[in-house]
Amino acid sequence: MSETKVNERLSALRSVSQVVTAQSLLEGGGFPVRRPFPTASLSLIDPFLLLDHLGPVDWARGEAIGAPDHPHRGFETVTYLLAGRMQHRDSAGNQGNLEPGDVQWMTAGSGVVHSELPHPEFLASGGVLHGFQIWVNLPAEKKMMTPRYQDIPSARIPTSRSANDKVQVKVIAGEALGSKAVIDTVVPITYLHFTIQPGGRHVQELHDDQNAFIYVFGGELLAGAEETIVVEGQAALFGSGSGVPLAVHGDAEGPVEVLLLAGSPLNEPVARRGPFVMNSEEEIDQAFTDYRHGLLG
Ligand code: FE2
Repeated sequence: MSETKVNERLSALRSVSQVVTAQSLLEGGGFPVRRPFPTASLSLIDPFLLLDHLGPVDWARGEAIGAPDHPHRGFETVTYLLAGRMQHRDSAGNQGNLEPGDVQWMTAGSGVVHSELPHPEFLASGGVLHGFQIWVNLPAEKKMMTPRYQDIPSARIPTSRSANDKVQVKVIAGEALGSKAVIDTVVPITYLHFTIQPGGRHVQELHDDQNAFIYVFGGELLAGAEETIVVEGQAALFGSGSGVPLAVHGDAEGPVEVLLLAGSPLNEPVARRGPFVMNSEEEIDQAFTDYRHGLLG
């Protein structure tokens, strides 16, 4: 590679533009989440509307809590479970179980009413529940699409490793280290779970137009061109460029766990209230009316 090409490549590396510490709160029926956004100061990272880090929480027997029946319209909810067992049911009769490593990519579209609860056997036994839910916005012309479920068991989620074995990635959406996701997204989305060993480093290539952020949930990551320190429970947003550098110090005590998410911004008005995300307040009012009249499923 010529010196000019090396410089061009280096100048395309993204820097961290903002580090956000997640807020702790109770969601659904009262389960603990950490939420880097939305908050008062950061409403969304277009096209991402929300990131909830569920637990980890060690439930006693009979005490695990989930989210009973509630509606959604106008966006997608993506659940990625790391530990525990969840059960999903909707008013159209769909039912599915989430085991550790599984992903449910639910496109609510025109509307669903669903529950997201601990599996009855997990509720009875108790144990550790740990996972993530993200909300991905839909473009205006897709907000009323027919609801769609992609339930992907862990075994079908592609995994890759770097040549030196220090970087492992689970490819939930998009591409990384030669693996391509099996999940189909409405707009191009990258959703990667990296486990990086001490001394490991990786540059994730992304389209220049995409917004990108990471969320660290174990250890201390060196993120972006300036190797900004990002610790467990923090999200970091990146500025413009293409490649996102991720590295772990050689003296780190253990591996770092990090989610990387990227997507092309919709650049559309966002009206959100409760479980509905549309483009205008009138459409939100219509969603509540439709829900009251039982039209969401
Ligand atoms: Fe939900």
